[in-house]
Amino acid sequence: MKDELAARLAPYDQQHLLAFWDRLDAEQQASLAAQIRAIDFELIRRLYQRRDSRDDLRPLLARTAPPPAFRLDTTQNPFTPEQARRRGHQALDAGEVGAVLVAGGQGTRLDFPQPKGLFPIGPVSGKTLFQIHVEKVIARARRHGVRIPLYVMTSPATHEETAVFLAAHDRFGLPPDELRVFCQGSMPAVDAATGGLLLESPGRIATSPDGHGGLLEAAARNGVLDDLRRRGIRQLFYLQVDNPLVDICGPEFIGYHLLAGSELSSQVVAKRDPLERLGNVIEADGKTMVIEYSDLPDDVARRLSADGSLTIWAGSIAVHVIDVALLRRLSEASHGLPFHIARKRVAHIDSTGRQIEPSDLNAIKFERFIFDLIPLARNPIVVEVDRRSAFAPIKNASGAKEDTPESAQGLLTALHRSWLRRAGAEVGDEVPVEISPLMALDAEELAAKLPRGTRITQPTYLA
Ligand code: UD1
Repeated sequence: MKDELAARLAPYDQQHLLAFWDRLDAEQQASLAAQIRAIDFELIRRLYQRRDSRDDLRPLLARTAPPPAFRLDTTQNPFTPEQARRRGHQALDAGEVGAVLVAGGQGTRLDFPQPKGLFPIGPVSGKTLFQIHVEKVIARARRHGVRIPLYVMTSPATHEETAVFLAAHDRFGLPPDELRVFCQGSMPAVDAATGGLLLESPGRIATSPDGHGGLLEAAARNGVLDDLRRRGIRQLFYLQVDNPLVDICGPEFIGYHLLAGSELSSQVVAKRDPLERLGNVIEADGKTMVIEYSDLPDDVARRLSADGSLTIWAGSIAVHVIDVALLRRLSEASHGLPFHIARKRVAHIDSTGRQIEPSDLNAIKFERFIFDLIPLARNPIVVEVDRRSAFAPIKNASGAKEDTPESAQGLLTALHRSWLRRAGAEVGDEVPVEISPLMALDAEELAAKLPRGTRITQPTYLA
């Protein structure tokens, strides 16, 4: 077996992966062999060779225009919010909508040792991110008297713990056949200086999740596309695990998407400042696309349109509706989404077996991004949302400047307090409040349920 593997590795200069072969037991050898056989070394070589030849985006960015958008100031929009809500309701009532939650990231910046979905975030209840998301799906499905299947994408880094956690909590009330956990693929990390794959241990190659764009391949491989077909689901609501404010399967957003005949719609917020660290939705040469903030030169980010507004104004909050037909079409196409390159710190063993904890960005990881579907979609649109009711990202550990658990809790409380006040309740500015999705998904639903004359003077969780 060793010779066969060595012959496979030699053309790519990767024989060092077998350096400890003779010290491994039979099981470890079999596992390493399986890993090696599953890797597309040709692809890795090609990606590594092109690592520095990033497309020069400047010429493209010189031609950018704002993307086709439905703005909060609705005067220019071809459809009214009421029309959109009506259309969204129809699709939901017909049971044509499902949801996909991507939760395969390693969440390194949050400094939480478990998958991010297990992070307790409810400001009063202490509920986890997963519970909040699942309860929103349950509440939405009840409202429309239908099933809304929820697909949770994990990665080898988060799969086991996520599956065990959701099962241990009876999927927070979602019936077993309405929650499906499936695992995305992974990619090996390579040494940035040599392109050699890294060994995590004598019998294990260092790998990482292949990016949320891995969804396309993973959904096909794990039977998710078949399941969607069987259920008659035509639109998939896409969200990231790290934002507890997402209005999951909100009818207005779905409605704009359908009325516009869009195959992929994206929620955006108006950027607070030109350099805000969000993906930027732009249009160039007739294509809508996302340019990550890290790829956007400052002077381009600051450019103004004729009316004095920011040209690149639309910050992606990574909430989408995706037409299942688009996923099906692309999963059948031979080419996949492109890989992006990220320089990261990756622990590994050296040729003597010594453990290395690098202090510099020693490795390159390869990731696919879901938003690279946008230029491939028909009529993609963006829909502007009010960030106070839609975006509470949890990226960094407590104490960081922004996007921390505390900032997200503050935003959740502020939104729920505003719902309570609109429903006529009296709530002090400093009193922590939280409303369960099972109680209300929006201010109107709360107003219909809240007893008149409600006064809240201490931390309160309405369930
Ligand atoms: C992401 C977007 C950015 C957007 C911002 C909004 C990218 C590259 N950037 O930034 O445009 O403005 O969110 O909050 O996505 N995940 C997987 N598998 C993976 C990697 C990630 O499922 O292999 C999931 C994570 O669990 C998480 C989500 O994708 O739910 C976002 O990942 P993250 O890497 O944190 O993206 P950001 O850099 O925060």
